[in-house]
Order: sequence, then structure tokens, then C-alpha cells
Amino acid sequence: MAAEQALADWLREAAGRLAGASETPRLDAELLAAHALGLSREELILGFHRFAVPDEAEALLARRLAREPVAYITGTRDFWTLSLRVTPAVLVPRPDSETLIEAAIEHFVGTQGPGRILDLGTGSGALLLAALDEWRGATGLGIDRSAEALAVACDNAKRCGMVGRATFQIGDWGAGLAERFDLILCNPPYIRSDALLPRDVAEHEPAGALFGGEDGLDAYRTLAEQLGGLLAPGGIALFEIGFDQGETAGALFRSAGFPVALRRDLAGRDRALVITRR
Ligand SMILES: C[S@@+](CC[C@H](N)C(=O)[O-])C[C@H]1O[C@@H](n2cnc3c(N)ncnc32)[C@H](O)[C@@H]1O
Repeated sequence: MAAEQALADWLREAAGRLAGASETPRLDAELLAAHALGLSREELILGFHRFAVPDEAEALLARRLAREPVAYITGTRDFWTLSLRVTPAVLVPRPDSETLIEAAIEHFVGTQGPGRILDLGTGSGALLLAALDEWRGATGLGIDRSAEALAVACDNAKRCGMVGRATFQIGDWGAGLAERFDLILCNPPYIRSDALLPRDVAEHEPAGALFGGEDGLDAYRTLAEQLGGLLAPGGIALFEIGFDQGETAGALFRSAGFPVALRRDLAGRDRALVITRR
């Protein structure tokens, strides 16, 4: 009973202290306590009356109060169906990016699905590995210019049991690739260089994963030029965008001769360019 009171009290108090530092204070407190106890959050919630406050809890809370993202503190992040390892070398995968996986599933419904998948700017490998989990007969290639990020992606392929199906290679977007892909996924850096970001992001996430030049569109300019040589007939390319970049980023691909549709995220904001090739 004492243990029950203690952990319940700690979670409440920690959530209160995090209120000014996080948009999800209670969730953060639960994830930190679960991590310190070696449990999933679900296990913590179902059985927290059985656990005492872990010794490590206060130190983890201090890191979060200093605005370190929870995923870097715990070293893991759930994305789609997967639990991925994350380090400060990679962007923390966001639920918004799952919009690309949803759009891909809709495109391939009623078919055998994509055979070959390309993930440009793979980071933790989140998009590629999520897609490979959907289409068990597919194989894929993840490209990133960061060797540190690719090490995390390789590790995640092992974690997810996809070593033989996912390969990773260092590169500058699709430059030098001599293959066409049925599904192309890409969440490039698209934040304007002068944007003011929350401290969690600005101080902890890799700048090379965030900023897309003065207008945020640098990556799309290159990708629009390369897409013709990468997308197979009948295939689909999905590019994540900022909520206000549908027109400007879309225009770059239209100028390169592609039909472009916009896909919204669960909050109703434009989130992806959808480009298909007959
Ligand atoms: C926004 S993060 C996306 C990471 C992951 N795909 C996700 O959705 O969580 C962008 C990624 O693109 C990579 N990147 C940036 N410029 C690149 C380039 N010119 N060629 C290849 N990758 C690049 C960054 O290193 C980073 O890992």
C-alpha cells in the first residue's frame, strides 16, 4: 500500500512539475517511470500499485525538465507497429509521419503490394521498417547522408527482425541510384532556417534532420529532379511536408511533370504530397 501511494504520488507530482516543460506531462512521467522500472507503459499502468518509485526516477525527470525529449531519455519510440531505438543522431519519429504509411496502404489495397521500397532520409529507419512490416514480401533500401543515423537504422532492422529485407546506404537523396521503386517514402528536412522551434527540438534533435534551407524547400527541389528516374510505373511516392507547404512543394513536382495530390494528417492539416505514376 505504501508503494502504491508512493508511485501514484510521484507520477502526480512529476506531471505537475513537467506542466511548463511538456505538452504531455502525465504521459512523460509514466514513460520515464516505466523505463526506470524496465516495464512498458501499459505494464506500469496496469500494475503500478505493485511498484515503488524507482531510484532513477528523479534523475530522468531532471533530464526531461531540461527539455530533453522523452525518446532520447528512454532510447525508444513507438512508430506504427514497431518499437524503435532512437538516439540523438536521429529525428524522433512523429505520429504525423504515419500519414505516409496510411496513404501507401490505401494505394496498394487489393494488390500484392510493393516489391521494392525506397526510404529517402531514413533516419531511424522508421518509415522503411513500418512499410516492410506491412508488406512481408517486400524488400527495401534506406538512404541517409548521416552515417550515425544509418547505424541506428541498421540496429532497428535487427530489432524488428528485418535484416535480410532492409539494406541501408549512405547517399545524397536518390543520387546515383540505378533502380526504380514501387513505393518511395521520404520525410525530408523541411523547416525554414529562421523558424523558432521549441527547446526540445532546437537543442536536442539533429539540425541536419530539421532544416530545409531559407524557405524549407531545398530537399524538394532536388527530389523533384530525381523522382523521374526512381519511381516505377504503377508506383507511388509520398513526401512529408509542413502543414503550409502543400502549394509550394507541390508546384516543384508539378513543374517536373508529376500529378500531385495532397494528403491530410489526423489533425486535418496538409501533411504529404502524393505522386503516382501510371
Ligand atoms: C526529418 S528526418 C526523417 C527521418 C525519418 N525518415 C523519420 O521520418 O523519422 C530527415 C532525414 O534526412 C536526412 N538527410 C538530410 N539531407 C539528406 C540528403 N541530402 N540525403 C540523404 N539524407 C538526408 C537526415 O540526416 C535525416 O535523417
